[in-house]
Amino acid sequence: MSTFLVFGATGGTGRHFINLALEEGHRVKAIVRTPSKLASIRNPNLQVIQGSITDDPLPHLDECVRGSDYVVSMLGDAGMQMRSKINTAFVKKQLVPSMRKNGVKRFLYQAGGLSKPYKEYFSPYLWMLRHTVGNAYAGQHADNEAVMKYLAEDAMDIEWIVHRAGIGSEGSQGTLRRSPNSESKYSVATFRDCAAYNLKTVQDKAAVHTSCHSCYIE
Ligand SMILES: NC(=O)c1ccc[n+]([C@@H]2O[C@H](COP(=O)([O-])OP(=O)(O)OC[C@H]3O[C@@H](n4cnc5c(N)ncnc54)[C@H](OP(=O)(O)O)[C@@H]3O)[C@@H](O)[C@H]2O)c1
Repeated sequence: MSTFLVFGATGGTGRHFINLALEEGHRVKAIVRTPSKLASIRNPNLQVIQGSITDDPLPHLDECVRGSDYVVSMLGDAGMQMRSKINTAFVKKQLVPSMRKNGVKRFLYQAGGLSKPYKEYFSPYLWMLRHTVGNAYAGQHADNEAVMKYLAEDAMDIEWIVHRAGIGSEGSQGTLRRSPNSESKYSVATFRDCAAYNLKTVQDKAAVHTSCHSCYIE
């Protein structure tokens, strides 16, 4: 049994993530803005803590990080991220320092498939999508990219993993695998399948310090 500290647990991916982790018998600590959104999940292994990543300092962060094996972020607030890089500020000023202080190493951050990996190849097709359909989420991509830059430049002591997820629907269509950037292969997957991928990948040492897309196993 492992302990997962989860951000974004009430969201499209996060909700599936916590259900899958609990089904596997793990402990989950979820820091959420609105705890009532998780009221229907009755499981003694789920601990819900109220808080917003824009609270500085975020109450109870250290005690939640302490004793966790894995930290997983499936955060997003497209409206706020249009105005401010709230994820970057939180990861940089609060989360990573707390992980360092409490000796917690492994961190998976879910970004978008159209968020460009730091100093890595972005195909012309993805570039075109990013600057057309992706414009609606420009703030979210800019925030995700700033997180990737920070992790690569200043947090290599953390065992971070970025999942550049493509998500388009609910349900399940299969099992996702990591798609190295050199492969330029990716799927527009379901929330549940991305959550299952995050649960598997955060525990995979081979994924540390990668910022890959995911694609379905054929
Ligand atoms: N949705 C997509 O189609 C898609 C596709 C590809 C990649 N992604 C990436 O994956 C990430 C997660 O996407 P998603 O669709 O699963 O998420 P989502 O449904 O948009 O939910 C975002 C989660 O973040 C939480 N959150 C937002 N601001 C917060 C704050 N200040 N403090 C604490 N929690 C906060 C939300 O809490 P509340 O319930 O309180 O709002 C919610 O749990 C996105 O950031 C995006 O980069 C998304």
